[in-house]
Amino acid sequence: MGFGVLFEVSLMGMIVLVLPSETHSAPEPPVAPSAKVYPKDPVELGDPNVLICFVDQFFPPVLNITWLKNGQVALEGVQETGFLPSVDWTFRKFSYLAFVPEEGDIYACQVDHWGLQGSLTRLWYAKEPALIPETPENILCGLGLAIGILGIVVGTVFFFKALRMNQNHQRSSTCRDGL
Ligand SMILES: *[C@@H]1O[C@H](CO)[C@@H](O)[C@H](O)[C@H]1NC(C)=O
Repeated sequence: MGFGVLFEVSLMGMIVLVLPSETHSAPEPPVAPSAKVYPKDPVELGDPNVLICFVDQFFPPVLNITWLKNGQVALEGVQETGFLPSVDWTFRKFSYLAFVPEEGDIYACQVDHWGLQGSLTRLWYAKEPALIPETPENILCGLGLAIGILGIVVGTVFFFKALRMNQNHQRSSTCRDGL
């Protein structure tokens, strides 16, 4: 009986000794964040929208997010979440900037954290649609190009076929001469 009690006591002692080091498994050195910027809704120039800056996987939860519009700090229309814990001891945070997309405006989400050397900056700007208009001239031009390429391919095939036929013909006539 005495032995059993002793065993239990020592087991409890072990648990007490082990637990504190277990709870200290959070990352000790700062873990630098990653960041990305994206619009909440599909972008239409002139339509009010919201830019989202998603800052992920950092520790400790001490971090500044700054919005810049064309290099100027933007304070109006900014909202942020708190620090959202992830299962791996790191944190996430969102910042929102209400804005109206206009051509030529450049937005930046600047993140400052102890794990970073300098600031982490992610840019966003409305991309102008890079569409080639399908005018009759363009279609004709494309068609012409396709026919041209086809001509080169067919021409090459025929050239080599003719060459091979010519060689076969010569070889067979040489054989006949030898006989
Ligand atoms: C965040 O901003 C405050 C106030 O400007 C500053 O004191 C602090 O050092 C900044 N924190 C980080 C992690 O850069």
